[in-house]
Amino acid sequence: MRRAFLIGFVLLTLSFTLLLGQKKSWVIGMSQCNLGEPWRVQMNADVKKAADEHGELTVTFKDAQNDNLRQRAHLEEFVRAGVDLIIVSPKEAAPLTAPVRDAYKSGIPVIVLDRRVLGEDYTCFIGADNKKIGSAAGRWVARKLGGKGSIVELKGLMTSTPGQDRHSGFRDAIKGSNITVTFEADMKWLEPNARKEMESALARFSNIDLVYAHNDPGAHGAYLAARAAGREKQILFVGIDALPQEGQMYVRQGVLAASFEYPTGGREAIETALKIFRGGKVPKEITLSSRFFTSENIDKGGEVLPD
Ligand code: FRU
Repeated sequence: MRRAFLIGFVLLTLSFTLLLGQKKSWVIGMSQCNLGEPWRVQMNADVKKAADEHGELTVTFKDAQNDNLRQRAHLEEFVRAGVDLIIVSPKEAAPLTAPVRDAYKSGIPVIVLDRRVLGEDYTCFIGADNKKIGSAAGRWVARKLGGKGSIVELKGLMTSTPGQDRHSGFRDAIKGSNITVTFEADMKWLEPNARKEMESALARFSNIDLVYAHNDPGAHGAYLAARAAGREKQILFVGIDALPQEGQMYVRQGVLAASFEYPTGGREAIETALKIFRGGKVPKEITLSSRFFTSENIDKGGEVLPD
């Protein structure tokens, strides 16, 4: 009897201690590099929607407004505030590497979303394979143009990793064909820049068969410039992101010939955060899959990228 009582007492104390030791709510700091583009608004919405399904999670969102220093300050503020985890979608690789490393080294798990930093001082990187997307776009373009033609490449910010990978993947894929890139410019992911660069390309070259832009705002900016010059019907426009309300809609309208999906990873970031909070192990890298959309496949929901 005495023994049973003692065991019961020990068990009760143990479960009480465990209960007290277990946190019941978690605060996540999310630093977004800018909210000026629909894709980033979508990423935050995806994070919020996934987090709202778990009452124990609170997400504090910050917008760096395309400013590396501001984003660095976000990371420092989150560390000072003692958040339980940081999600960061960095503007540029080099300037954000040290702030991400410092936050990680302070003991706070850091999930890097979409654009990379240098090195490996973070908990987990989540993003789609931009080289593969660029390469699939290149092969699609080469087929569409019958292996020859003159194209314009409007690049994303070349100090960010998606810009570099979408460029090299594409160039590798068109190597050996008779396709020449007659004009290229860094439009820094921004539609107004793309429009301006395309105006220069149109002024200099009377023959342009296709525009490959590293994102859909870039492809749309190029389309607007061509339309203003009355040349939009002679040129094909290809972009990346394929949001339903943006790239996919442009494909349906016949504005873009193709758009390659770049998933935001918002939901996966929250799922990964939960795993970390529950003491689970997470991989260093999570690669998201991607689809592409053309007028032929858009009604069937697009197709998975070929390997
Ligand atoms: C938005 C964006 C997207 C692009 C991604 C790459 O800022 O430019 O259009 O796919 O960033 O990081």
